[in-house]
Amino acid sequence: MRLDVVTIFPEYLEPLNVSLVGKARARGQLNVHVHELRTWAYDRHNTVDDTPYGGGPGMVMKTEPWGEALDSVLADGYETGSRAPALIVPTPSGRPFTQELAVELSGRPWLIFAPARYEGIDRRVTDEYAARMPVYEVSIGDYVLAGGEAAVLVVTEAVARLLPGVLGNAESHRDDSFAPGAMAGLLEGPVYTKPPLWRGRDIPDVLLSGHHGKIARWRRDEALKRTAANRPDLIERCDPKGLDKKDREM
Ligand code: ADE
Repeated sequence: MRLDVVTIFPEYLEPLNVSLVGKARARGQLNVHVHELRTWAYDRHNTVDDTPYGGGPGMVMKTEPWGEALDSVLADGYETGSRAPALIVPTPSGRPFTQELAVELSGRPWLIFAPARYEGIDRRVTDEYAARMPVYEVSIGDYVLAGGEAAVLVVTEAVARLLPGVLGNAESHRDDSFAPGAMAGLLEGPVYTKPPLWRGRDIPDVLLSGHHGKIARWRRDEALKRTAANRPDLIERCDPKGLDKKDREM
């Protein structure tokens, strides 16, 4: 997968060099290019923003630098054989970024991120590229960040770990919280490891029983309890086909 990020803070994307995403890059599973937006600003001050039409507070990112930046990124990608780009625009006004959307994006060969600062990017930029490729306006939560760069890191990590061969164990995301399938979109319950006794706290007996059926049942019950406590909305929305009779008795 190819990833391009156009930003006025390239250094903000340095975490893409570490941990899971960094390793995926080193292994050639992810081909990441970070571009400085001001490269495509031509006045003396490298201006990328201006006052909003209609008045109001804050500044709006200008069409021309974004248009030239995206055209240049697209030309480079096509030249080197990438195809089927999608533009990702992080914004608190976007659709919620979910595990389902992460799965969808992980199936695309080329993602171009356009994180904005200030009040956002002039609408004509998204309109222009939406005529040529899928554009995803995504929000990572109901709060307002100072810019979209942190959202780029979030989306990239969620997508990268789904790419084939990136996680050591392909089964590790089968039981992820929010994953459809066995856990029916429930949150994961608590987990334990050695030692068996720590500061007077032991671990649930069932986990030491060696009884796989009972352990699976306990894990489901704990997942249901945690979901009911932290995200009752997920219980309301969960696919009833994913619940068994015992779940429904909980
Ligand atoms: N930019 C500012 N706030 C954001 C949010 N919540 N999600 C995505 N991008 C953002």
